[in-house]
Amino acid sequence: MITLAHISDLHIDGGARSRERVEQVMAYLNGIAGSLDALVVTGDLTEHGAVGELEEARALLSGRLSVVSCPGNHDVGEGRAAFRRVVLGEKAAGEAPVNAVHRTGGGAVVLCDSTVPGEAGGLLSEETLEWLEETLTGLRGTPVVLGFHHPPVPLHVPYVDGIAMQGPDRLAVLLSRHPQVAGLLCGHAHTPAATAFAQRPLLVAPGTVGMSPLPWEDARSAYETHPPAVAFHVLDDAGRMTTHYRTAPRQAR
Ligand SMILES: [Fe+2]
Ligand SMILES: [Fe+2]
Repeated sequence: MITLAHISDLHIDGGARSRERVEQVMAYLNGIAGSLDALVVTGDLTEHGAVGELEEARALLSGRLSVVSCPGNHDVGEGRAAFRRVVLGEKAAGEAPVNAVHRTGGGAVVLCDSTVPGEAGGLLSEETLEWLEETLTGLRGTPVVLGFHHPPVPLHVPYVDGIAMQGPDRLAVLLSRHPQVAGLLCGHAHTPAATAFAQRPLLVAPGTVGMSPLPWEDARSAYETHPPAVAFHVLDDAGRMTTHYRTAPRQAR
Protein backbone atom coordinates (compact mmCIF):
# COMPACT_ATOMS: atom_id res chain seq x y z
CA MET A 1 0.00 0.00 0.00
CA ILE A 2 1.19 3.50 -0.81
CA THR A 3 -0.09 6.59 0.98
CA LEU A 4 0.78 9.89 -0.68
CA ALA A 5 0.12 13.49 0.23
CA HIS A 6 -0.26 15.72 -2.81
CA ILE A 7 -0.10 19.50 -3.05
CA SER A 8 0.42 21.88 -5.94
CA ASP A 9 0.67 25.48 -7.03
CA LEU A 10 2.40 27.07 -4.07
CA HIS A 11 3.32 30.10 -6.22
CA ILE A 12 5.96 31.29 -3.77
CA ASP A 13 6.66 34.91 -4.69
CA GLY A 14 8.53 36.26 -1.67
CA GLY A 15 5.29 37.55 -0.11
CA ALA A 16 3.57 36.63 3.14
CA ARG A 17 0.39 35.09 1.72
CA SER A 18 2.02 32.35 -0.34
CA ARG A 19 4.55 31.59 2.42
CA GLU A 20 2.01 31.40 5.25
CA ARG A 21 -0.31 29.09 3.32
CA VAL A 22 2.52 26.66 2.60
CA GLU A 23 3.56 26.85 6.27
CA GLN A 24 0.00 25.95 7.28
CA VAL A 25 -0.04 22.93 4.95
CA MET A 26 3.44 21.75 5.93
CA ALA A 27 2.74 22.04 9.68
CA TYR A 28 -0.19 19.66 9.13
CA LEU A 29 1.73 17.24 6.89
CA ASN A 30 4.91 17.16 8.95
CA GLY A 31 2.76 16.30 11.97
CA ILE A 32 1.54 13.12 10.25
CA ALA A 33 4.68 12.41 8.23
CA GLY A 34 5.16 8.98 9.81
CA SER A 35 1.99 7.74 8.09
CA LEU A 36 2.89 9.04 4.61
CA ASP A 37 5.21 7.47 2.04
CA ALA A 38 5.90 10.72 0.19
CA LEU A 39 4.70 14.24 -0.57
CA VAL A 40 4.08 14.81 -4.29
CA VAL A 41 4.23 18.42 -5.51
CA THR A 42 2.87 18.82 -9.04
CA GLY A 43 4.44 22.10 -10.05
CA ASP A 44 4.17 25.86 -9.83
CA LEU A 45 6.25 25.84 -6.66
CA THR A 46 7.02 29.47 -7.48
CA GLU A 47 5.46 32.46 -9.22
CA HIS A 48 8.40 33.36 -11.50
CA GLY A 49 10.96 30.55 -11.22
CA ALA A 50 13.46 33.00 -9.69
CA VAL A 51 16.32 31.42 -7.73
CA GLY A 52 15.27 33.16 -4.49
CA GLU A 53 11.69 31.87 -4.87
CA LEU A 54 12.87 28.33 -5.65
CA GLU A 55 15.15 28.41 -2.58
CA GLU A 56 12.25 29.57 -0.39
CA ALA A 57 9.97 26.83 -1.77
CA ARG A 58 12.59 24.16 -1.17
CA ALA A 59 13.14 25.37 2.41
CA LEU A 60 9.40 25.45 3.15
CA LEU A 61 8.90 21.92 1.81
CA SER A 62 11.85 20.37 3.61
CA GLY A 63 10.96 18.66 6.85
CA ARG A 64 10.06 15.12 7.83
CA LEU A 65 8.62 14.09 4.45
CA SER A 66 10.20 12.62 1.39
CA VAL A 67 9.31 15.28 -1.22
CA VAL A 68 9.09 14.57 -4.96
CA SER A 69 8.22 17.30 -7.43
CA CYS A 70 7.92 18.23 -11.08
CA PRO A 71 7.99 21.77 -12.49
CA GLY A 72 4.97 23.84 -13.52
CA ASN A 73 4.78 26.53 -16.17
CA HIS A 74 5.54 29.26 -13.62
CA ASP A 75 8.76 27.52 -12.54
CA VAL A 76 10.43 27.45 -15.96
CA GLY A 77 9.76 30.84 -17.56
CA GLU A 78 13.55 31.23 -17.88
CA GLY A 79 14.25 27.54 -18.50
CA ARG A 80 14.64 24.43 -16.38
CA ALA A 81 18.21 24.79 -15.09
CA ALA A 82 17.38 26.73 -11.92
CA PHE A 83 14.64 24.26 -10.96
CA ARG A 84 17.01 21.36 -11.49
CA ARG A 85 19.79 22.99 -9.49
CA VAL A 86 17.83 24.48 -6.59
CA VAL A 87 14.88 22.11 -6.11
CA LEU A 88 16.40 18.82 -7.25
CA GLY A 89 19.96 19.56 -6.12
CA GLU A 90 21.51 18.61 -9.48
CA LYS A 91 25.06 19.83 -10.03
CA ALA A 92 25.16 19.73 -13.85
CA ALA A 93 21.73 21.22 -14.46
CA GLY A 94 20.57 21.27 -18.07
CA GLU A 95 17.40 22.13 -19.96
CA ALA A 96 16.12 18.60 -20.60
CA PRO A 97 12.60 17.80 -19.35
CA VAL A 98 12.49 16.98 -15.63
CA ASN A 99 11.30 13.35 -15.63
CA ALA A 100 11.93 11.05 -12.67
CA VAL A 101 10.93 7.81 -10.94
CA HIS A 102 10.61 7.63 -7.18
CA ARG A 103 10.28 4.17 -5.64
CA THR A 104 8.16 4.10 -2.51
CA GLY A 105 6.09 1.68 -0.45
CA GLY A 106 6.37 -1.21 -2.91
CA GLY A 107 5.31 0.96 -5.85
CA ALA A 108 6.53 3.93 -7.80
CA VAL A 109 5.65 7.56 -8.31
CA VAL A 110 6.57 8.61 -11.86
CA LEU A 111 6.68 12.36 -12.50
CA CYS A 112 6.80 13.84 -15.99
CA ASP A 113 7.56 17.36 -17.14
CA SER A 114 4.59 18.81 -19.06
CA THR A 115 6.02 22.33 -19.26
CA VAL A 116 6.98 24.24 -22.39
CA PRO A 117 9.36 26.94 -21.07
CA GLY A 118 7.93 30.39 -21.72
CA GLU A 119 4.39 29.12 -22.30
CA ALA A 120 1.42 28.77 -19.93
CA GLY A 121 0.00 25.70 -21.66
CA GLY A 122 1.59 22.27 -21.55
CA LEU A 123 2.72 19.34 -23.64
CA LEU A 124 4.47 16.03 -23.07
CA SER A 125 7.41 16.28 -25.45
CA GLU A 126 8.58 13.50 -27.75
CA GLU A 127 11.54 12.98 -25.44
CA THR A 128 9.28 12.71 -22.39
CA LEU A 129 6.85 10.28 -24.04
CA GLU A 130 9.75 8.04 -25.09
CA TRP A 131 11.17 8.17 -21.57
CA LEU A 132 7.76 7.36 -20.10
CA GLU A 133 7.24 4.37 -22.41
CA GLU A 134 10.64 2.97 -21.49
CA THR A 135 10.18 3.67 -17.79
CA LEU A 136 6.73 2.08 -17.55
CA THR A 137 7.94 -0.94 -19.50
CA GLY A 138 10.65 -1.34 -16.85
CA LEU A 139 8.02 -1.02 -14.12
CA ARG A 140 5.70 -3.71 -15.49
CA GLY A 141 3.94 -5.35 -12.54
CA THR A 142 4.79 -2.48 -10.18
CA PRO A 143 1.90 -0.26 -9.07
CA VAL A 144 2.49 3.25 -10.44
CA VAL A 145 1.04 6.67 -9.73
CA LEU A 146 1.84 9.07 -12.60
CA GLY A 147 1.98 12.82 -12.07
CA PHE A 148 2.53 15.95 -14.17
CA HIS A 149 1.50 19.62 -14.00
CA HIS A 150 -1.05 20.26 -16.78
CA PRO A 151 -4.47 18.53 -16.79
CA PRO A 152 -4.96 16.47 -19.99
CA VAL A 153 -8.74 17.00 -19.97
CA PRO A 154 -11.02 20.05 -19.65
CA LEU A 155 -12.06 20.70 -16.06
CA HIS A 156 -14.83 23.19 -16.85
CA VAL A 157 -12.80 26.03 -15.37
CA PRO A 158 -12.62 28.26 -18.47
CA TYR A 159 -9.28 30.00 -17.85
CA VAL A 160 -7.52 26.74 -16.99
CA ASP A 161 -9.07 24.83 -19.88
CA GLY A 162 -7.44 27.33 -22.24
CA ILE A 163 -3.95 26.48 -20.95
CA ALA A 164 -4.29 22.72 -20.39
CA MET A 165 -2.09 19.91 -21.78
CA GLN A 166 -2.11 19.85 -25.58
CA GLY A 167 -2.20 16.59 -27.54
CA PRO A 168 -3.25 14.26 -24.70
CA ASP A 169 -4.22 11.45 -27.09
CA ARG A 170 -0.67 10.15 -27.30
CA LEU A 171 -0.56 9.83 -23.51
CA ALA A 172 -3.87 7.94 -23.56
CA VAL A 173 -2.54 5.48 -26.15
CA LEU A 174 0.68 5.01 -24.18
CA LEU A 175 -1.27 4.34 -20.97
CA SER A 176 -3.37 1.69 -22.70
CA ARG A 177 -0.18 -0.42 -22.82
CA HIS A 178 0.52 0.02 -19.10
CA PRO A 179 -2.36 -1.15 -16.90
CA GLN A 180 -0.19 -0.94 -13.76
CA VAL A 181 -0.67 2.85 -13.77
CA ALA A 182 -3.43 3.07 -11.18
CA GLY A 183 -3.99 6.80 -11.12
CA LEU A 184 -2.93 10.16 -12.52
CA LEU A 185 -2.13 13.31 -10.55
CA CYS A 186 -1.87 16.90 -11.73
CA GLY A 187 -2.05 20.51 -10.59
CA HIS A 188 -2.21 23.82 -12.52
CA ALA A 189 -5.99 24.17 -12.10
CA HIS A 190 -5.92 25.39 -8.48
CA THR A 191 -9.00 23.39 -7.57
CA PRO A 192 -9.49 20.01 -5.87
CA ALA A 193 -11.13 18.03 -8.65
CA ALA A 194 -11.67 14.38 -9.56
CA THR A 195 -12.25 13.14 -13.09
CA ALA A 196 -10.93 10.43 -15.40
CA PHE A 197 -8.41 10.06 -18.22
CA ALA A 198 -7.54 6.90 -20.19
CA GLN A 199 -9.82 4.83 -17.92
CA ARG A 200 -7.87 5.92 -14.84
CA PRO A 201 -8.81 8.32 -12.06
CA LEU A 202 -7.32 11.78 -12.66
CA LEU A 203 -6.98 13.72 -9.42
CA VAL A 204 -6.27 17.44 -9.38
CA ALA A 205 -4.60 18.99 -6.34
CA PRO A 206 -6.02 22.13 -4.78
CA GLY A 207 -3.89 25.23 -5.30
CA THR A 208 -2.06 25.98 -2.07
CA VAL A 209 -1.89 29.69 -2.93
CA GLY A 210 -5.66 29.96 -3.56
CA MET A 211 -8.56 28.36 -5.40
CA SER A 212 -9.60 29.08 -8.98
CA PRO A 213 -13.18 30.35 -9.01
CA LEU A 214 -15.64 27.92 -10.54
CA PRO A 215 -18.00 29.50 -13.10
CA TRP A 216 -20.81 29.59 -10.56
CA GLU A 217 -18.69 31.11 -7.75
CA ASP A 218 -17.83 34.70 -6.95
CA ALA A 219 -14.28 35.14 -8.25
CA ARG A 220 -12.93 37.31 -5.45
CA SER A 221 -14.32 35.31 -2.55
CA ALA A 222 -13.20 31.97 -3.98
CA TYR A 223 -9.58 33.12 -3.93
CA GLU A 224 -9.82 34.92 -0.59
CA THR A 225 -11.90 32.57 1.53
CA HIS A 226 -10.97 28.96 0.80
CA PRO A 227 -8.27 27.70 3.17
CA PRO A 228 -5.25 25.83 1.77
CA ALA A 229 -5.90 22.14 1.22
CA VAL A 230 -4.16 18.88 0.39
CA ALA A 231 -5.02 15.58 -1.27
CA PHE A 232 -4.23 12.15 0.15
CA HIS A 233 -4.06 9.25 -2.30
CA VAL A 234 -4.11 5.68 -1.01
CA LEU A 235 -3.08 3.02 -3.53
CA ASP A 236 -4.12 -0.27 -1.94
CA ASP A 237 -2.97 -3.83 -2.57
CA ALA A 238 -5.96 -4.40 -4.87
CA GLY A 239 -4.52 -1.68 -7.15
CA ARG A 240 -7.35 0.74 -6.38
CA MET A 241 -6.65 4.39 -5.68
CA THR A 242 -8.76 6.27 -3.14
CA THR A 243 -8.45 10.02 -2.68
CA HIS A 244 -9.34 12.16 0.31
CA TYR A 245 -9.21 15.96 0.19
CA ARG A 246 -8.56 17.86 3.43
CA THR A 247 -8.22 21.51 4.35
CA ALA A 248 -5.11 22.17 6.42
CA PRO A 249 -5.98 23.07 10.01
CA ARG A 250 -5.19 26.63 10.97
CA GLN A 251 -1.97 26.86 12.99
CA ALA A 252 -2.07 27.96 16.63
CA ARG A 253 -0.45 31.39 16.95
FE1 LIG B 1 -0.49 27.46 -10.78
FE1 LIG C 1 0.43 26.18 -13.77
